[in-house]
Amino acid sequence: MKAVDLIQQISKVPTFKKYGRVSRVVGLMIESQGPESSVGDVCKIHINSPKTGASVILAEVVGFKEEVVVLMPYTNIREISTGCLVEGTNSPLEIKVGPELIGRVLDSMGNPIDGSVLPKGLMTVGTEKDSPNPLTRPPIEEQIEVGVKAIDGMLTVGKGQRVGIFAGSGVGKSTLLGMIARNTNADLNVIALIGERGREVREFIERDLGKEGLEKSIVVAATSDQPALMRIKGAFTATAIAEYFRDKGLNVMLMMDSVTRVAMAQREVGLAVGEPPATRGYTPSVFSILPKLLERTGTNENGTITAFYTVLVDGDDMNEPIADTVRGILDGHIVLDRSLANKGQYPAINVLKSISRLMNHISDENHVKAAERLRDLYFTYNKSEDLINIGAYKRGTSREIDEAIQYEPLITSFLKQGYLDKVSLDSSVDELVKLSGGVS
Ligand SMILES: Nc1ncnc2c1ncn2[C@@H]1O[C@H](COP(=O)(O)OP(=O)(O)O)[C@@H](O)[C@H]1O
Ligand SMILES: [Mg+2]
Repeated sequence: MKAVDLIQQISKVPTFKKYGRVSRVVGLMIESQGPESSVGDVCKIHINSPKTGASVILAEVVGFKEEVVVLMPYTNIREISTGCLVEGTNSPLEIKVGPELIGRVLDSMGNPIDGSVLPKGLMTVGTEKDSPNPLTRPPIEEQIEVGVKAIDGMLTVGKGQRVGIFAGSGVGKSTLLGMIARNTNADLNVIALIGERGREVREFIERDLGKEGLEKSIVVAATSDQPALMRIKGAFTATAIAEYFRDKGLNVMLMMDSVTRVAMAQREVGLAVGEPPATRGYTPSVFSILPKLLERTGTNENGTITAFYTVLVDGDDMNEPIADTVRGILDGHIVLDRSLANKGQYPAINVLKSISRLMNHISDENHVKAAERLRDLYFTYNKSEDLINIGAYKRGTSREIDEAIQYEPLITSFLKQGYLDKVSLDSSVDELVKLSGGVS
């Protein structure tokens, strides 16, 4: 080899120090001297155990303490000790994607957990990406069918719209997401189940999603027993998979259950690396990660990602910091109400507390007017419900209330839907417009 070539070869060799050594392990935090790296980089920790032999665990750089690299593992660790070799990869987490993933259940690193193996020829993509440029993002113009009457009729969602579903536990989030996944006319669903118990994941896949739903979905599951970092990555991996299909020109439906658990996982990481707790114990990084994650969906020049993000709200506290932040970022919110669920009104969507910010823009005038009229009638009924129920309201006192009383059972029955019933967007709108036309 010529000297010039040799020099060229040498100049191509990466100059960063690729290796370091574990110096301290505190709980889930691993400190290491080297390698040179940036926050977010993946490192391989080589473990040489006398019992189980050599193995490699993946960890991510989450911070620095002076000269020391602070890492958190993606998996639960047992055998790690000081002196273990830490190999830098100089790159954030990457996953493999392709159409072959459809119908599969994956972990946060994109590996199947349903016993299948990944085929060859998939594309490698990073899980951390910037959101589309706001100036080149096409506006949302078209409706998407979710196949749930209360939403398609009263809270119409557009292709590329991002909506929060706010609810306490056991009010019907998973059931509703399953309905949407089965009924929507989106090209495919990407469903992130974050921080659920293992049993809930199985129930969702078998009962709520069913075979029919799974056939057009990719599920990413990070259960509550997994390290915080894995729960965060699950959200990013699912988003990256949805982005891959959006870039192929498809209309993707992303569902994340729940974004509150992602925030809680980030809080765990934040507190562990020494961030100060701010609002309700949430650290500043929680509030910077949420917009970064939620802004990645929506439209881009190629396709759309319509997204539903569930937010846990305890006792109807919509002003809790995560709920508040998420609501501010998204283009609409759907509130599930325990009092409706208790009455057996499913899906327990409170249409008076919910809003789709794009409905008026993407729906035709008749539809919007009909929805507004029914909402007004329903509002009037709800305002006077206590009086009506105790018999303190006398018919004939107010024409408005009389009309609302007449309409209430019809509106309620419009909003109710059996979880196996699929109703098309067009027939929901037809029924709504007819209903607003008069009680016969
Ligand atoms: N559309 C529905 N029809 C009938 N029952 C429902 C419906 N949605 C929810 N439920 C009832 O509520 C329970 C909890 O629903 P689930 O979707 O698991 O709630 P969450 O995910 O909010 O914890 C279900 O087991 C079921 O009994
Ligand atoms: Mg659930």
